[in-house]
Amino acid sequence: MRTGRNNLVLRSELDPALTVHRPSIPVQEALKHAAGLREDLKDAYRGKRYLLKTYGCQMNEHDSEMIAGLLEEMGYAATTDETAADLILFNTCAVRENAENKVFGEIGRVKPLKQLNPQLLLGVCGCMPQEAAVQERVRSTYPWVDVVFGTHNIHRMPELIEQASNAFETVMEVWEQSTETFDELPKARTDQTRAWVNIQYGCNKFCTYCIVPYTRGRERSRTMESIVSEVEELAARGFREVTLLGQNVNDYGLDLGTQFSFLLRAVGRVAGIERVRFTTSNPWNFTDDLIEAIAETKSVCHHIHLPVQSGSNAVLKRMNRGYTREYYLDLVRKIRERIPDVALTTDLIVGFPGETEQDFQETLALVSDVAFDNAYTFSYSARAGTPAAGFKDAVSEDEKKQRLARLMAVQDRFTLLASQRMVGKTVRVLVEGVSRTNGHVLAARTDTNKLVLIEGPLRWIGQTLDVRIVSANTWTLRGECVEKEREARTGS
Ligand code: SAH
Ligand code: SF4
Ligand code: F3S
Repeated sequence: MRTGRNNLVLRSELDPALTVHRPSIPVQEALKHAAGLREDLKDAYRGKRYLLKTYGCQMNEHDSEMIAGLLEEMGYAATTDETAADLILFNTCAVRENAENKVFGEIGRVKPLKQLNPQLLLGVCGCMPQEAAVQERVRSTYPWVDVVFGTHNIHRMPELIEQASNAFETVMEVWEQSTETFDELPKARTDQTRAWVNIQYGCNKFCTYCIVPYTRGRERSRTMESIVSEVEELAARGFREVTLLGQNVNDYGLDLGTQFSFLLRAVGRVAGIERVRFTTSNPWNFTDDLIEAIAETKSVCHHIHLPVQSGSNAVLKRMNRGYTREYYLDLVRKIRERIPDVALTTDLIVGFPGETEQDFQETLALVSDVAFDNAYTFSYSARAGTPAAGFKDAVSEDEKKQRLARLMAVQDRFTLLASQRMVGKTVRVLVEGVSRTNGHVLAARTDTNKLVLIEGPLRWIGQTLDVRIVSANTWTLRGECVEKEREARTGS
């Protein structure tokens, strides 16, 4: 099992916790954007280079594509070399304390680079600046940071960078809330086959442990027309897969008088898009019609990430998750009945305040009952300003560590079993690129989101192929391309 998304331990290429924005792909999108880059800032930074490091969830990764798009409109070019960078920007995550500490460590580590390049600008954006305590800490302890902006101010970045180039003090602009969205900003996408598409912003659920409603503001849905037109444009550019992004995608459209199931069907009709994924589905509001839409829409992948967080009703209640263990198990049963080959993955938190050994046992039992294909497991981290930060009966760090290890041991067995079940099967995969861990093989993915490594030419990247699974370990499958064998037999 992998630990948290923001934890570098045991990370696999399935889910990069930290992405360094890479140069090279000429995919600057020509989307018009409402805010528009001020004429005099266009290309004003030609010859300068930026290094953008992204932490956190897919939403942040996608924000980074917009940030990169704007920087490139300003004339900046991407680099992965810190010593060559004129701007180092950290797009941060606030969901757990260790993610935040890592960023503060990085801000300290890169400080000496300013002596090598006095023009170097250091920036912090994303979810961390949305916390007042982080703003204060930057001012008091990290004054060498030049520019700070939040999740609602991305479109303001060019002007803030311009101000920071001429300022002695940290330029800081963090809006708490915004009705604006950035759908129209240019996006320097890091991939040419798969694209993220925002469908919903913010979160209204207020789970008691979670900082996201405070860093991302209230839930807002993007209109179906705007989403479908972006997806059509992506299809026209050759993209084959889209992932619809939101914190509770099954609440999509409730503010617009529509529903997520309608959106899935509409996106599913876009010609050229072979795969539609979505994340994240809170188990709340997972309607029968949504199950139906997933089952009947051919391009919608049979993978549902359905975070359960805990198997104990007492803990779920204190987490304010709004469902019970029984509701969750029933939902899983309904989904599997209608979509028998579905892959289910989840998120789990151990050591929530007041979690007893018995509560934890209930989580272990639920994990065994459901037999998830995979799970992200997290040790509870108190976030200032959230209700749970004030809850009594904290679980000790030592106990949390032990529970995390016990949970991982149980889930690992199910992850391996789910992989092993694939051996001998022929499955359709989309080839995503060269493997990040082994440059000699290609990384492809099944509809159920399993990573398959195959040998083959680079021209396969972006194609869908039939592969036979020949072996499996916990995180990866090895496959052989069936079409390749056919080519060899016919000599073509
Ligand atoms: N909107 C998604 C979750 C987004 S945050 C949902 O509700 O399903 C991603 C995951 O981080 C959560 O599912 C949760 O498991 C974990 N997480 C959030 N806050 C946390 C905290 N304070 N401590 C530990 N893990 C946390
Ligand atoms: Fe956080 Fe809960 Fe919203 Fe998910 S649904 S982002 S866990 S508050
Ligand atoms: Fe982290 Fe912000 Fe995403 S807190 S999980 S980057 S919404």
